[in-house]
Amino acid sequence: MGKLDGKVAVITGATSGMALAGAKLFVDEGAHVFITGRRKDALEEAVEQIGRNVTGVQGDSADLDDLDRLFDTVKQEKGSIDALWASAGVGKQNKLGEITEEDFHDAFWLNARGTLFTVQKALPLFNDGGSIFMTGSNASLRGYPNWSVYAGSKAVLPAYARVWVSELRDRKIRVNVLTPGQVASPMLEEVMDEEMKAQFESVIPRREMGRPEEIASAALFLASDDSSYVNGMELVVDGGTTVI
Ligand SMILES: NC(=O)c1ccc[n+]([C@@H]2O[C@H](COP(=O)([O-])OP(=O)(O)OC[C@H]3O[C@@H](n4cnc5c(N)ncnc54)[C@H](OP(=O)(O)O)[C@@H]3O)[C@@H](O)[C@H]2O)c1
Repeated sequence: MGKLDGKVAVITGATSGMALAGAKLFVDEGAHVFITGRRKDALEEAVEQIGRNVTGVQGDSADLDDLDRLFDTVKQEKGSIDALWASAGVGKQNKLGEITEEDFHDAFWLNARGTLFTVQKALPLFNDGGSIFMTGSNASLRGYPNWSVYAGSKAVLPAYARVWVSELRDRKIRVNVLTPGQVASPMLEEVMDEEMKAQFESVIPRREMGRPEEIASAALFLASDDSSYVNGMELVVDGGTTVI
């Protein structure tokens, strides 16, 4: 028996990296999964890789019309949602003194604003007792130089979660934040050179980055009844980087 048998899950930004690994695992555990991403070709490839019980909906999580289209599709195909993993996010280095309005806008537009509207627009379809979680970052818990914009845009998520736990208590919907440390994903390859990767690895206790599958298994915990008494929390999955 799978941990998500008969459940419907929506995962945004899931054509690569940790959310794609999560989508595969959720399907293996019995869910039907809706995945999103902006690039059509990457979305088609991800749907093909997952192979069954998956619907790809192309769209930008910062675009409210695209979010409406996503949830209209979910409504038409499945009618309701049991788990939402709002994972679409962007991040890059911005040195204090050189931060532009555009840098600030790009990070907050998707990470803070897009994530909030993803959750809000999913709510009418949510089954009571469901699970919502958002991808944070341990950059918001540690003082990594040059990451203030990204850190700030992710730091709002635990605050959202705490408030929404109160607002959704009558529906028994849980809200948490899944907070990875450095994970070897396409995003990380794009924004870090070899020197920076080595620097980040040096602060991880095991000296090796996380794998997308290691975040996916934490996501399965949050999506399933295994975490039924975990609510309003930030689950930090960073190999211990934040605590040393
Ligand atoms: N990798 C790390 O070390 C790390 C650490 C902490 C937190 N995170 C967070 O983890 C999440 C996933 O990161 P990842 O490293 O697994 O990245 P990734 O492999 O680059 O995947 C990012 C995914 O998000 C999609 N995406 C990007 N912008 C989007 C948008 N506006 N709307 C919808 N989809 C969008 C991408 O597809 P398209 O480009 O086609 O849209 C892709 O599917 C992000 O929120 C990131 O901030 C990453």
